[in-house]
Amino acid sequence: MANSRRLFLRAASSSGLLGLVSARTGWGHDRVSTPSQTKGPFYPIPEIEKQSHFDFDLTRKDDKSPIADGEVIAIGGKVVSHSERPLSKTIVEVWQACKTGRYNHPQDSNDRPMDPNFQYWGRLITGDDGAFRFKTIIPGKYPGRTPHIHFRIVSPDRPELITQLYFGQYEEWNRKDGIYMSLNVAQRDAVTTHLEKRPIDPTKKEGEQLLTGDFTIVLGPLSDTKSTQPM
Ligand SMILES: [Fe+2]
Repeated sequence: MANSRRLFLRAASSSGLLGLVSARTGWGHDRVSTPSQTKGPFYPIPEIEKQSHFDFDLTRKDDKSPIADGEVIAIGGKVVSHSERPLSKTIVEVWQACKTGRYNHPQDSNDRPMDPNFQYWGRLITGDDGAFRFKTIIPGKYPGRTPHIHFRIVSPDRPELITQLYFGQYEEWNRKDGIYMSLNVAQRDAVTTHLEKRPIDPTKKEGEQLLTGDFTIVLGPLSDTKSTQPM
């Protein structure tokens, strides 16, 4: 297990898994800004501020603790500008429900059990290549929502972006989710990842595999941000 964790960490800054989403504008090569989505009520303040390490393996609380329930996945990508310039020194925060669809938040009144082994949020800072990668589980579905992962992106001299990432395999549920469907087709494409099995170490064609999805986050000017309905 320690070996696979090392492999995973080594893969974190690799660009080999960074497929680029197809959402583009019709003008030149500028990319569509990743759409803003509601922060929702379960952002883990103040808990995330107590986190003393930038741990992006949500599947367990530390190297010695049990692994959380659920299908383990990796999400990797880049934070870029409209012109695809990698944005370094950018904070990438994620938070999500565990397999049962429960958040680790006092306002979550859902009576489904919490997973004591799941690390419900993570935070990292991008390097020069703008890349990020974290390991987690497919979040559970909860009433009114399709499975999704919340993101908060803070980049120097850019507006903060709050968004959500969805899974293409849940197309039927996605189409019943009002927050997802509030986006236009290109925006939905930009926040929908398609998981596929890939080597944990992207520099090798063989070896241990992990369901992996790409997410390119495009930060645009302030005028591109918009609010959606609260939920
Ligand atoms: Fe949520």
